[in-house]
Amino acid sequence: MSTLEPPPGAASDWTIDQRWQDYSPAEHAVWDTLFARQAAMLPGRVVPAFMDGLDMLRMTKPGIPDFSELSDRLMTATGWQVVAVPGLVPDEVFFDHLANRRFVSGRFIRTADQLDYLEEPDVFHDVFGHVPLLANPVFADYMQVYGQGGLRAAKLGAIDRLARLYWYTVEFGLIREGDALKLYGAGIVSSHGESIFALDDPSPNRLGFDMRRLMQTEYRIDDYQQSYFVIDSFDDLLRQTLETDFAPIYAALDGSPGIAVDTVLADDKIWHRGTQSYASARASSKLGT
Ligand SMILES: [Fe+2]
Repeated sequence: MSTLEPPPGAASDWTIDQRWQDYSPAEHAVWDTLFARQAAMLPGRVVPAFMDGLDMLRMTKPGIPDFSELSDRLMTATGWQVVAVPGLVPDEVFFDHLANRRFVSGRFIRTADQLDYLEEPDVFHDVFGHVPLLANPVFADYMQVYGQGGLRAAKLGAIDRLARLYWYTVEFGLIREGDALKLYGAGIVSSHGESIFALDDPSPNRLGFDMRRLMQTEYRIDDYQQSYFVIDSFDDLLRQTLETDFAPIYAALDGSPGIAVDTVLADDKIWHRGTQSYASARASSKLGT
């Protein structure tokens, strides 16, 4: 385990009490505003399992969810729980929770004047974005398998490699539904702007999921992604993750240069070749040109 100690007030596994009763009406109102905006926009754009999860977990109830209530419902559905943490936790702590079917969430919520700006994940991102799919048995298994894989990757010094799998699936994944694409990544579905951009904008690439390729791909932490990867189904994602022998891939890729965020390779399955117009415009404006 990590040598980092949990902050004062946190348990040895870094969890804290959510203190649900301490949320102010203004904080609940921020949740309700964000929830209403996403709930109005996502149907038809998000994978149906996400809407099913919101419903099954009764997340349509107003206000920031009480993690103990949410965990009771989630436990019944798939054996998962939601636990509060003070902020970002060390990788191995995070993996250990996932491997034990516990999803860690921040307890704080962004302020009303910063609805679209986040320095680190808040309870809306963590709970609205991530928790509905934990009610889906296949996705729930995938998250646990990822956590188990993370613990192994830590021993092999390959966390940075594996983290790209999480980034391009759990956070920014797209999924095929017939000939259409749908959203499922939490980083997308908890963001109003990216929920539109990821599906509709001509700028980003939308490429077929390829485990090894994706683990070499760089990613954007400061803006919308320049490439998204499309899985066939949660079953296929889980199966591929279970069947992949990661250690030889980590060894083979060790020290290899990354694939740039906008690159399309000759053997990529191309759903949409991005114009990268958005990224180019942003780069120009940053240069002041
Ligand atoms: Fe997240």
